[in-house]
Amino acid sequence: MDKRITTGEKLPDDNFEISIRPNTLDEYIGQSEVKENLNIFIKAAKMRNEPLDHVLLYGPPGLGKTTLSYIIANELGSNIKTTSGPSIEKTGDLAAILSSLEDGDVLFIDEIHRIPRFIEEILYSAMEDFTLDIIVGSESSSRNIRIDLPPFTLVGATTRAGDLTGPLRDRFGIINKLNYYTEEELKQIAIRTSHVLDTKITEDAASELARRSRGTPRITNRLFRRVRDFALVMGNGDIDLKITKLALDRLKVDSLGLDDTDYNLLKSIIEKFNGGPVGIEAIASSIGEEQTTIEDVYEPYLLQTGLLKRTARGRIVTRKAYEHLNIPYKKEK
Ligand SMILES: Nc1ncnc2c1ncn2[C@@H]1O[C@H](COP(=O)(O)OP(=O)(O)O)[C@@H](O)[C@H]1O
Ligand SMILES: [Mg+2]
Repeated sequence: MDKRITTGEKLPDDNFEISIRPNTLDEYIGQSEVKENLNIFIKAAKMRNEPLDHVLLYGPPGLGKTTLSYIIANELGSNIKTTSGPSIEKTGDLAAILSSLEDGDVLFIDEIHRIPRFIEEILYSAMEDFTLDIIVGSESSSRNIRIDLPPFTLVGATTRAGDLTGPLRDRFGIINKLNYYTEEELKQIAIRTSHVLDTKITEDAASELARRSRGTPRITNRLFRRVRDFALVMGNGDIDLKITKLALDRLKVDSLGLDDTDYNLLKSIIEKFNGGPVGIEAIASSIGEEQTTIEDVYEPYLLQTGLLKRTARGRIVTRKAYEHLNIPYKKEK
């Protein structure tokens, strides 16, 4: 697991975030298009007294997929049952949770791309016809049984929509991609968190925190808590710009939210490959990392902020990155 303070992935220390989750669409900051659409679909489903269509939420870790799933259930006035792809190992695991559903329930499956293929098929008829088709008994005396399920809504979340099979994907009526948040949205999230945690934060401190949060609410909240510690021990407990900068500098999260790992990656490409273009394999062996780790964990934010570019000839460190790292940019690319 990626343990960096700048990771969007959930760390054990992030469990506090359950208590600061927004509970309604109104409280959920940003993602306005997704929110507006969901609001209509939820209202329509309630007016028709039918279950909401199955919803797929995808996007990088920490952007609010789990939070939104709970909000959907809450707005529907439904109960939510939760499970995750990796915890479904046998057909029976999925059959058990499906047969426990009640009318109108939301079934939330996190990391849905990790359900084993042979189990996934059970979902097809469950999603389409609300029936559960399973085989019972041993090989010699096995038989198919079909159980009717109550109407329910499946909400699936994944960081890797591309890993979903076509048949599964096709069974979701509502597919939403969550995007990285703007600085302004993250600032609002920091201010919201300050109310929930009953800690004062100045506007400029909230902006600074937002700027260093890599577009990710989870990181905003994590950094908020760390900065709050500095404010308590070194000041009077209130968070201002000065303490925020001091804390984040100490935590080695720079003005763009970059940390040592990012510096390492960018600097190796600059120093060893003259800034690129260079293939991912060469980068991987030069910094001693798995190619997939670079692609899934290290690169996305650098690409998103335009510090790194992916071209047909390989990765290129951009002029913006040279300037940020204070390294003279010589060549024209
Ligand atoms: N739109 C949002 N508004 C306010 N807080 C948010 C929002 N999205 C996420 N958060 C905060 O970030 C934390 C991580 O979000 P989560 O839903 O667990 O992300 P994901 O499931 O995509 O990894 C939540 O606990 C919540 O506190
Ligand atoms: Mg989640």
